[in-house]
Amino acid sequence: MEELQRNIPEKLVFLETFGCQMNDNDSERMLGFLKDIKYSRTESPELADLIIINTCSIRDKAEQKVYSILGRFRELKDENPSLIIGVSGCVAQQQGKALLKRVPHLDIVFGPHNVHKVKELLAEAEKKKRVVATDFKAGIDEDEYAYGRTETGLKAFVSIMRGCDNFCSYCIVPYTRGREVSRNSADIVSEVRSLAASGVKEVTLVGQNVNSYGGGGAGFTELLRKVAGVEGVQRVRFITSHPKDISPGLIRLFASEPKLCRHIHLPVQSGSDGVLKAMRRGYTAEEYLSKVSMLKKLYGDISITSDIIVGFPGETDTDFDATMELINTVRFDNIFSFMYSQRPGTHASGLAAQVDPDTKARRLKVLQERQREITAEKSLELVGSVKEVLVEGRSKSDPGESSGRTSCNRIVNFPAAAGLNGAIVEVTITQAYPNSLRGELRERSVPCY
Ligand code: SAH
Ligand code: SF4
Ligand code: F3S
Repeated sequence: MEELQRNIPEKLVFLETFGCQMNDNDSERMLGFLKDIKYSRTESPELADLIIINTCSIRDKAEQKVYSILGRFRELKDENPSLIIGVSGCVAQQQGKALLKRVPHLDIVFGPHNVHKVKELLAEAEKKKRVVATDFKAGIDEDEYAYGRTETGLKAFVSIMRGCDNFCSYCIVPYTRGREVSRNSADIVSEVRSLAASGVKEVTLVGQNVNSYGGGGAGFTELLRKVAGVEGVQRVRFITSHPKDISPGLIRLFASEPKLCRHIHLPVQSGSDGVLKAMRRGYTAEEYLSKVSMLKKLYGDISITSDIIVGFPGETDTDFDATMELINTVRFDNIFSFMYSQRPGTHASGLAAQVDPDTKARRLKVLQERQREITAEKSLELVGSVKEVLVEGRSKSDPGESSGRTSCNRIVNFPAAAGLNGAIVEVTITQAYPNSLRGELRERSVPCY
């Protein structure tokens, strides 16, 4: 077998990833599987033997981007007919065979449940076949995660589940990722152990709704405890939480588990009860606010971020005002905000009262401007405080400075000699910028590795 592997010539794969943390993890798995057959990554599509676009279809704009990118690769395929081009991810799942029809120079279309089959699909395509793999699996087979990581830095994302059962009325994810299924907690912990052994200090557990995790009898809070207990792991994060499912046990865990980072991404989507109901989110604005106030009361320094959609069908100016009121009440550290986009097959896309594009754009602008002010104010509040920073490397703008993140996930740059990578140090925050903080290393700060 080893002899065989030695005889395979090196090949290059160009892989571009769009969308969420689940897609990032799927891309890393693809690279890991492809490494077995001697593929390494290139940043130049012109040099590639294989091109894969790992796509997202959460909004129409994201989907359209895929077609324009594929158009750019047509010439490369004309020049080099042995080049293989594949599309994976949520657009692949949604479009399936239709994508092959629409893009004649495409060889492989495969969805999120078929990531682990990338080598087989490639072998088929090498025989000049055009292949589509968009079937769904009911459970998770650990073989799907039996890949060698290609990038092991200080931080790693670990997928704990797949799919989503919530069917929020605007969202395509349940259709592209299938039903929610959890990985076994023992398998997750063993993956984290091997990551820690290879030098990973910070682990982020990822899923579309991590709070409803339930694998091998363990709930999410118990899984977090187990992961934090792995020797060598210094920090644990998780994403994404659903406000209806976040439990008091999880909220309390921030107090008893020092490795758990003081940040929670808690998408609210809207501040209007009518809109939340039509979105099928399963909570009211008041219920959301009561969870946030519990978090803030217990942990004054916790950072809360969110996602908001403007222009959901039927959203009136009064509904939008309720969203503005909510962001002024919560004062999120930051938000991701989007104009509602009609997604094929979802309940909301068939609703009659679609909001016109100008109104959506106007509301988005008002929301983003106000949030920018709040984010700046919240950053200023941090000036003078002392924060623990996990040093990740040199600052992008000044190689004489180190850069890292606080537990609340803010980027901090500070002057320091090289050699601190992987250490957690104390930094006094001295200045706040729109996207980062600046600070000074505390003199008596003892790096904790
Ligand atoms: N599972 C996560 C988020 C998944 S998608 C959750 O439930 O919160 C990330 C974000 O994209 C969502 O939170 C939502 O704000 C946004 N989004 C999803 N579908 C959308 C659509 N059709 N139009 C606009 N934004 C959308
Ligand atoms: Fe989409 Fe809702 Fe599931 Fe999030 S919880 S992935 S928004 S359906
Ligand atoms: Fe996009 Fe699919 Fe993730 S639609 S946000 S890549 S689950």
